[in-house]
Amino acid sequence: MTQTILLTGGAGYIGSHTYVALIKSGYNVVIYDNFSNARADVPARLELITGAPVTVWRGDLLDGHSLNAVFAAHKIDAVIHFAAKKAVGESVRLPIDYFQTNITGLLALLEAMNTAGVHNLVYSSSATVYAETETLPIDEDAPLGFASPYAFTKLAGEQIMAQVAASNPAWAFGILRYFNPAGAHESGLIGEDPNGIPNNLLPYIAKVATGDLPALNIFGNDYPTPDGTGMRDYIHVEDLAQGHVLSLAALLAGKGGHLLNLGTGIGFSVMDMLQTYSRACGRDLPYVIAPRRDGDLAAYWADPARAQAVLGFTATRGLEDICTSSWNWVKRRGNMGTS
Ligand code: UFG
Repeated sequence: MTQTILLTGGAGYIGSHTYVALIKSGYNVVIYDNFSNARADVPARLELITGAPVTVWRGDLLDGHSLNAVFAAHKIDAVIHFAAKKAVGESVRLPIDYFQTNITGLLALLEAMNTAGVHNLVYSSSATVYAETETLPIDEDAPLGFASPYAFTKLAGEQIMAQVAASNPAWAFGILRYFNPAGAHESGLIGEDPNGIPNNLLPYIAKVATGDLPALNIFGNDYPTPDGTGMRDYIHVEDLAQGHVLSLAALLAGKGGHLLNLGTGIGFSVMDMLQTYSRACGRDLPYVIAPRRDGDLAAYWADPARAQAVLGFTATRGLEDICTSSWNWVKRRGNMGTS
């Protein structure tokens, strides 16, 4: 029988790509989203990609009635939980908002799941839960810590779930620590679409490529890396989406919970990214060297071995796919007359 998955935040960046991957794998999906950080036309775009109607429940995580109602209306087998706030800098200014959405929201979801008898949950965590380290690659046993309210909420979420799991063996959690998600769907119909000036590297470069921003500010070129710019583990969002499908399948197969990095195991520099994007869009993109950004580390990337061993997960797409798919998306964006 076809299983039904509730996707909180399913209209957002990673959620929408995971929606497509789930449909392709034969699941029914119900999107639960308040559209606070998603474009209104995402469901229409998902219909174009999948060729089937999209079920959307417009609701807020903090609205217990709405959550209970979605579980009452659909026979949900498992949940993938994306709905959260994710901007590190904003979390420093607005910590209470982050605690509300990311921690109180998670608790509300767990309560509604428990009431409905649904006990399988895949959770969006982040490499931000790791303490600052120079020991690379980072595996799942690396020391933990938090440098921002955002990071605190992700770590708190993990710890809340560990204690809930210990209370009742019916619960199973797939905790996925993402490194740096990037890129867009191959269709060019969905992708990352931040409001205003982007904080993250790839959407910023994309706006330089479209001419919306004059030049990339490279935050420091005096790091102890081969070209002096910061290095990260950029994982294509379609690979990331596939990681969620595998995590979900393991939970539904009764294999119990897991806590895994999702990354490629390879670090690329800001300069690598800019040059690869320049090739993708066909012109040398301008940049200026700016001071280091507060809180940035020189370099880190994942040890992806455990995700491979536990889920059979390997990222298959590289930097070129990331840049080409992003460019394909930003070129086409708006062709449907909205956003
Ligand atoms: N960078 C620039 N210029 C920019 C933006 C970024 O040079 O305009 C550099 C940064 O200094 C860094 C790299 O590009 O070296 C990546 O920066 P991002 O802001 O894209 O990503 P971060 O690694 O800082 O943070 C991301 C997410 C966090 C998450 C973290 C976990 O934004 O939410 O990964 O690994 F917590």
